[in-house]
Amino acid sequence: MSKSVLQLPVIERAEAARQVVRLTLQAPEWARAARAGHFINLLVPGRRDLLWRRPFSVHRADRSRGTIDLLVARMGRGSESLAECAPGDHLDAIGLLGNCFPFDPGLHEIIMVAGGIGIAPFDLLLQDVQGFSCKKSLFYGARSAGDLCRSTLWAESGAEVHLTTEDGSTGSRGLVLDELRRYLGSSANHAGRVIYGCGPTPMLAALREMALALGIKGYVTVENRMACGFGACVGCAVELAEARRDGQKYLLACKDGPVFPIEEILFHD
Ligand SMILES: Cc1cc2nc3c(=O)[nH]c(=O)nc-3n(C[C@H](O)[C@H](O)[C@H](O)COP(=O)(O)OP(=O)(O)OC[C@H]3O[C@@H](n4cnc5c(N)ncnc54)[C@H](O)[C@@H]3O)c2cc1C
Ligand code: FES
Repeated sequence: MSKSVLQLPVIERAEAARQVVRLTLQAPEWARAARAGHFINLLVPGRRDLLWRRPFSVHRADRSRGTIDLLVARMGRGSESLAECAPGDHLDAIGLLGNCFPFDPGLHEIIMVAGGIGIAPFDLLLQDVQGFSCKKSLFYGARSAGDLCRSTLWAESGAEVHLTTEDGSTGSRGLVLDELRRYLGSSANHAGRVIYGCGPTPMLAALREMALALGIKGYVTVENRMACGFGACVGCAVELAEARRDGQKYLLACKDGPVFPIEEILFHD
């Protein structure tokens, strides 16, 4: 699908968690075409001082209503303004951008690992794999119960959900990777499993080590800071673990990603 610039009407706004707002946008073509990993680049309305667009993953697509949902975490000036958008507002958006999580129908289990707002692409992934018989496991961690963005799709898709909170207010106390390590440690055979990760860089770095040590295939979507969003500024470079044959040692998250095989890239804070 070619990229386009659209003015998208906001049709719903809801608080999804503490500091996170869910926006529902009317976008029939993108609702049909979006796959987990795709993102859109939004101009911040009413803020002419913010020149760069802000990237947001497509969180969910309702193909019959022709809508897409975004989760917007309040991080700074741009996301604060976007989170205040209300039904009736229009957002200037470029999309659909990026690649998506690869999925092999022969898999036995997909293991989604989300930290904080890294939960954003996984509703759409659950929608993408609906109808396939593989086991769907979601490991999702946040600071506290009120920071978790819960979803009706978890039950609808039959996903096995493992929640962790740092303060123990819901699920297991600790970090999401502690829970994942316990789960994977209870089985010696990881054939047919794939890990999909999205979250803070230290979590992705540790997830990479775990996947490599256990020999589990995996993909991560990186949420590097972006500026131009189309490959011109080199502001979103991702370092490869090994240089390619042509000597290339970096890829661009906006153009080559944001989804990468977990073993291919290195993470830096
Ligand atoms: C491909 C992609 C998909 C994304 N999907 C989502 C999503 O679905 N939901 C969501 O809430 N956010 C998502 N993000 C992150 C989101 O784009 C940033 O949080 C947002 O652009 C910050 O803009 P701001 O003006 O609010 O913050 P700024 O005022 O620019 O910065 C405020 C603070 O946020 C930090 N920050 C800014 N950008 C990022 C970033 N990319 N990652 C981590 N910290 C950052 C800054 O270091 C600073 O401390 C995504 C990013 C990418 C690259
Ligand atoms: S954001 Fe400019 S090259 Fe990726």
